[in-house]
Amino acid sequence: MSAQEKVQGRNGGTGMATFFAHIRIIFATLALLTLAAAVPASAQQPTSVNPTASSVKEDQLLQELQRIQGRGSIPDTKSYVIEQPAGRMWRQFHEVTLHWIGAIAIVGMLALLVLFYLIRGMVRLEGGRSGRTITRFSGFERFVHWMTATCFVILALTGLNVTFGKALLLPFVQPETFTDIAQWAKYAHNYLSFPFTLGVILIFLMWIAWNIPNRVDVEWLKRGGGIVGHDHPPADRFNAGQKMIYWIVVLGGTAIAVSGYILMLPFYGTNIADMQVAQIVHGVAALLFVAVMLAHIYIGTIGMQGAFEGMWDGTVDVNWAKEHHRVWLEKETVEGHVAPPPPKGKMQPAE
Ligand code: HEM
Repeated sequence: MSAQEKVQGRNGGTGMATFFAHIRIIFATLALLTLAAAVPASAQQPTSVNPTASSVKEDQLLQELQRIQGRGSIPDTKSYVIEQPAGRMWRQFHEVTLHWIGAIAIVGMLALLVLFYLIRGMVRLEGGRSGRTITRFSGFERFVHWMTATCFVILALTGLNVTFGKALLLPFVQPETFTDIAQWAKYAHNYLSFPFTLGVILIFLMWIAWNIPNRVDVEWLKRGGGIVGHDHPPADRFNAGQKMIYWIVVLGGTAIAVSGYILMLPFYGTNIADMQVAQIVHGVAALLFVAVMLAHIYIGTIGMQGAFEGMWDGTVDVNWAKEHHRVWLEKETVEGHVAPPPPKGKMQPAE
């Protein structure tokens, strides 16, 4: 082979090598383009993070499996379940439904009371004061009433903070202040539950004898309690309206106390479903209780002249008893608990 042929042969080999090199580059470019088209946009930007990516997957999982559950190493197996349908329903109830129930019951009751006060005004003593009084409540009864009432007011305010605090209080205070208030509110709520429960038990025992419904109540109810107009239907120591308050306090108070202790001692003999039921009972009963008590507080203060003193110093005017609790006054008179009226002469001014 001549030197020229050798050079040509080498050049021919170099030409083939160059040709294959070009083919490789074309294939590599095609492969890269295909890969680039297949990879999602987010993966092309390794520094950007999609904050909702994992929750989207959780949501897909939840839709497919109805629950998100993992494995754990602590003995509390309940904690392995992150989301489940009943939990989501409960969250909807806790965050939305309960708010509506509370707002409608409490704001509705306040609106009714304002309207009633504007239309009817205070129920006044029509016969004026007689100047003679009769004992209505003993010192023990008043102590139990005010102990229960004080606990109730604090329990109501601190409980309302759990439901409405985030929406109604947090916007007006610093987050740290709200945390402190919420923490102390929780302590108060837990500890005052004990004297409140004792109060409900004592109210049940000390007034049960006067709160059994009877025929006098039917008559009182038929005549609308005398609230509309100026009627005075007969009533014993407690009228039908007061008996309703009594039973709401006893039965509602029991439901709230029992469900509250279940919530205070989580998972002692209860599972998640039981805890959810306890929370629903506690929340709904407590909010309705607050609404009913607003009516009770109204009638015990600005709604009726002469009622508050019975629970404050223990006595009421005899004319008040005659107008609102005639049957009770008659019994008290027969038992000699009412001082006779002073002789007429003494009431006449000296001439
Ligand atoms: C905080 C403000 C309250 C005021 C101003 C108030 C006022 C009164 C008054 C004046 C009476 C006597 C009515 C009468 O002589 O016929 C009474 C009775 C009664 N109170 Fe209260 N009370 C308050 C809170 C509460 C609370 C929070 C409860 C229970 C949780 C309660 C339970 C009762 C019961 C069961 C009676 C007897 C039945 C009745 O009169 O309705 N009270 N209250």
